[in-house]
Amino acid sequence: MLNFKLDQSLQLGGKKAIITGASQGIGAAMAKAFARAGVNLVLIARTEAKLQELVQELQLIYDRELQQNGEKEPDDYTSKLSFFAVDLTDEGAVKKIFSDIATLGGVDILINNAGKMTPKPLAFIKSEDIQSQFEINTFAVIRCCQYASRLMIRNGGGSIINISSMLGEYGQQGQSIYSASKAAVSGLTRSLAQELASYQIRVNSIAPGIINTPLISTLSNAEKEQILARIALQRLGKPEEVANTCLFLASDWSSYITGQVIDVDGGVHF
Ligand SMILES: NC(=O)c1ccc[n+]([C@@H]2O[C@H](COP(=O)([O-])OP(=O)(O)OC[C@H]3O[C@@H](n4cnc5c(N)ncnc54)[C@H](OP(=O)(O)O)[C@@H]3O)[C@@H](O)[C@H]2O)c1
Repeated sequence: MLNFKLDQSLQLGGKKAIITGASQGIGAAMAKAFARAGVNLVLIARTEAKLQELVQELQLIYDRELQQNGEKEPDDYTSKLSFFAVDLTDEGAVKKIFSDIATLGGVDILINNAGKMTPKPLAFIKSEDIQSQFEINTFAVIRCCQYASRLMIRNGGGSIINISSMLGEYGQQGQSIYSASKAAVSGLTRSLAQELASYQIRVNSIAPGIINTPLISTLSNAEKEQILARIALQRLGKPEEVANTCLFLASDWSSYITGQVIDVDGGVHF
C-alpha cells in the first residue's frame, strides 16, 4: 500500500477523477487509492448499495487525510465525492452524467474500468453474450472517452486510463469475445493518444493479468491453474497493484507516457 507521503507527492490533490466500475474489485481499490491521494471522485457502477457503502469508507479516508494535515473535516462531501448508479451501456444515461459533470467544472482524470467477462468457446456463445461484452468492455469505453475528452480539451488537459486485459494482448481459449473486446481498447488507446496529444491529454491502458476479484470467479480452477503456470511471480495480482499503476498514470510522474498499454501481470510468459 502507498504511504501517505508518497500519495501526497503524486500531487493529485484537488483533481477530479471519474472511475467506472467502482462498486467492487479493482475499481473500488482505485477509489480508495485516489481518495488517499486527495482526489475528488465521481464513481459509476450499477449497484447503488455497494457505491453507498464505498462512499462511507472513502469519507473516513478523506477525514483521516485532513486530520493528518491539521485541516477541518468538511460538513458536506458533495464536492469531493459523488456517485451515479447507472448502467454504462445506457447511452442516454452516460450522456446525462457527463453533462452534469460539465456543469461542475469538468474532469481531469477518466478511468474506464467497468467490464465483464463471459468465458465460452465461440462455437457455443450466445449472441447476447457477444453483444453485452462489447457493449460494456468496448462501446461504453469509447463513449466515455468521447465525452470526457471534450471536457478535458475545454479544461486544457487530462489523463485517460483504460483498463484492458492481458487476454486482449495474448488471447486464451474460451475468451475469443472478451479478448476481442479488450484488444479493441488497446487500439483505441494508441490512436486516441495521438489525436489528443496536442491538447495535453494523455491516453494509456493498463492490461492486468489475473487479479483476485469477483470477476475471476467465472474461471474454472483448471483455467486459473493454466494461467498461474505462466506467471513469473507465481501468484495472483491484487486490485491495489493495478490501482497503484493507475495513480502513476494519472499523475505527472508519467508526464511523458502516452499511447502505451502497460502490463500489470506479474510477468506473464507464453
Ligand atoms: N480481475 C482480473 O483478473 C482482470 C484481469 C484483466 C482485466 N480486468 C479488467 O479490469 C476491470 C475491473 O475488473 P474486476 O476484476 O474488478 O471486475 P469486477 O469485480 O467484476 O468489477 C466490475 C465492475 O464493473 C461494473 N460494471 C459491470 N458492468 C457494468 C455496467 N454495464 N454498467 C456499469 N458498471 C458496470 C461492476 O459494477 P456493478 O455490477 O455494480 O455494475 C463492477 O464495479 C474490468 O474491465 C476487467 O475486464 C480484470
